[in-house]
Amino acid sequence: MKRISVLLPLLLLFVAAFCQELRSPNGNFRMNFSVAGGGRPVYRLAFKGREVIKPSGLGLELKNDSFSLASGFVITDSARNTHDDTWTPVWGEVKQIRNHYNELAITLSQPASKRKMVIRFRAFDEGIGFRYEFPAQENLVYFIIKEEKTQFAMTGDHTAFWIPGDYDTQEYDYTTSRLSEIRGLQMKAITANVSQTSFSPTGVQTALMLKTDDGLYINLHEAALINYSCMHLNLDDKNLVFESWLTPDAKGDKGYIQAPSVSPWRTIIASDDARDVLASKMAYNLNEPSKITETSWIKPTKYVGVWWEMITGKSTWAYTDQFPSVILGATDYRNARPNGRHGATTANVKKYIDFAAKNGFDAVLVEGWNVGWEDWFGNMKEKVFDFITPYPDFDLPGLHAYAQSKHVKLIMHHETSGSPRNYERYLDTAFRLMKSNGYDAVKTGYVGNIIPAGENHYNQFMVNHYQYVIEKAAGYHIMVNGHEAVRPTGIARTYPNMIGNESARGTEYQAFGGSKPNHVTILPFTRLLGGPMDYTPGIFEMDLSKINPKNSSHVNSTLANQLALYVTMYSPLQMAADLPENYERFPDAFQFIKDVAVDWDDSKYMEAEPGKFITVARKAKGTENWFVGSVNGDSARISAIDFGFLTPDKKYTATVYADAPAAHYKTNPQAYVIKKIAVTSKTRIKQFCAPGGGYAISITRD
Ligand code: NOJ
Ligand code: CA
Repeated sequence: MKRISVLLPLLLLFVAAFCQELRSPNGNFRMNFSVAGGGRPVYRLAFKGREVIKPSGLGLELKNDSFSLASGFVITDSARNTHDDTWTPVWGEVKQIRNHYNELAITLSQPASKRKMVIRFRAFDEGIGFRYEFPAQENLVYFIIKEEKTQFAMTGDHTAFWIPGDYDTQEYDYTTSRLSEIRGLQMKAITANVSQTSFSPTGVQTALMLKTDDGLYINLHEAALINYSCMHLNLDDKNLVFESWLTPDAKGDKGYIQAPSVSPWRTIIASDDARDVLASKMAYNLNEPSKITETSWIKPTKYVGVWWEMITGKSTWAYTDQFPSVILGATDYRNARPNGRHGATTANVKKYIDFAAKNGFDAVLVEGWNVGWEDWFGNMKEKVFDFITPYPDFDLPGLHAYAQSKHVKLIMHHETSGSPRNYERYLDTAFRLMKSNGYDAVKTGYVGNIIPAGENHYNQFMVNHYQYVIEKAAGYHIMVNGHEAVRPTGIARTYPNMIGNESARGTEYQAFGGSKPNHVTILPFTRLLGGPMDYTPGIFEMDLSKINPKNSSHVNSTLANQLALYVTMYSPLQMAADLPENYERFPDAFQFIKDVAVDWDDSKYMEAEPGKFITVARKAKGTENWFVGSVNGDSARISAIDFGFLTPDKKYTATVYADAPAAHYKTNPQAYVIKKIAVTSKTRIKQFCAPGGGYAISITRD
């Protein structure tokens, strides 16, 4: 007895030195950290007593270095902290965000190299984040990452909603399969898109959504991707262990680090209720507070654009035919013969400005206004585009004056052709030109292979470029919407001028062969967890041959589903993407797009199942009005709406825009019904959703 009482404290001390536990504030998550044999850092994670991540290794391998940062460690210190505060986003799904976590920072020392590394864990109520920290020290100053060795060991052969681990595009339809099926389905997934780089047969991108057979929803992603390469996940499909796999540069290196420095956060969200994943604000909470103090110039925006007509092939970005000046025999392509199909003409832009003014839109995006489009061939040249010279039929100052007179903003477009150095050279001049012509938002784009050759869209070099553009734009009070840029990781908290990103398969693919009807029931579980998407919804004409006889693509969505997207795909930047003439054919349905808000005080996720359906209700900023959106997957279903989110004892009128009973995304997409009903917080209704359909509701206080 006496012996035990002596040994017990010693034993506890021993356990504390080698195994540390961190719990989430609500106690649902339990993370255990230990240093295993060989000094390998290991963690495991449980949710409500169920294992989420089996013991998994942590660390990094360095290039040209005799020591690994994945083994040989002992714990020399640990510090705990609790944080609880509430912050107000500049724009968002909710008015305020609570940032509540318990923290454990483990200091690891490597006696052989006399180096130190900290692993910092934060446990939130919806999941955990952890990162590597490299404190300033004598024996670790400059280093090159060969590979990060962060593991996520799965507990079974889960269902995954995945896209291939491509270094250059995220614009894939999702594949839903078992983990063990990824290898077999990878080639099919790749050939269904234009893949630009080779990658592992079991590599997937984050945010990766998973579901276990016993109904646990798990999401793996990263937060605060700054000065580091974007993380993909490579699956060891024998053991069902994911391992981090950073995007390489042209030499195959994965990152250049100078201590003191930190890695991005690696995040794991888990719940037995899929709605919790959608409501998570963990990615934002793991980013730094806003570095922009005066934010009145950052404005949620609903816009139309000279865009869909080019995407569908009705008109062109280029002013002349798409041949380089050399072939045309003209020394200055501005003098070359116009092709007669240029979209961004002064007259056409004025038509869009009039349409925006008449229907209450804030802005008009104009693509194809600047020289270069005719010379864009397979990304061979570093300098294709210039960002300051308009085509001769685009009157830059005249359109500025015209837009101003109609109280409409113009949105600038900078297609970089994947050439960041060329863009950076122009950046100040281009931003100054924007400001002097009344533009305060820019859509950037990075189509094609990155120049210099061998660099990738998601490596450290490009991550730093995107960040440079965001910060530079902030200096000019310019909002940025980056297409083909690296997927967002909550950075908009720190730089709220980053009001949008594409970084996934958007509506444009409906004009390039179509997307899966359930695509929009997956994106909020994956891509949107890091920040808003410029998805460009609002297509009313699904048969694109009606716009361009040569385009045989079909938009795989019902019209009611298109309306719902304004609510389900949260973004402070929303486009009404279709042509004005298509909206004019359906004025009653168009009313919803005119009415729907783009900034919110509250959001309630009501129904959710990845790949199947999502229903969300949002309260419009500063009003008593609510909007509901519900998107549906491949099969018809009945959605149940509980209006309990409304203020009790108040009366409201709801306008429901829904699929007609015969609606179907393929055969009958424009069949919709609109009805008005009186509702209160006690109202419960059931609503039919067609395959690829859904509904939208606008609710106003009586
Ligand atoms: C791809 C973008 O996603 C699209 O919106 C844009 O119109 C084209 N690139 C041209 O830059
Ligand atoms: Ca794109």
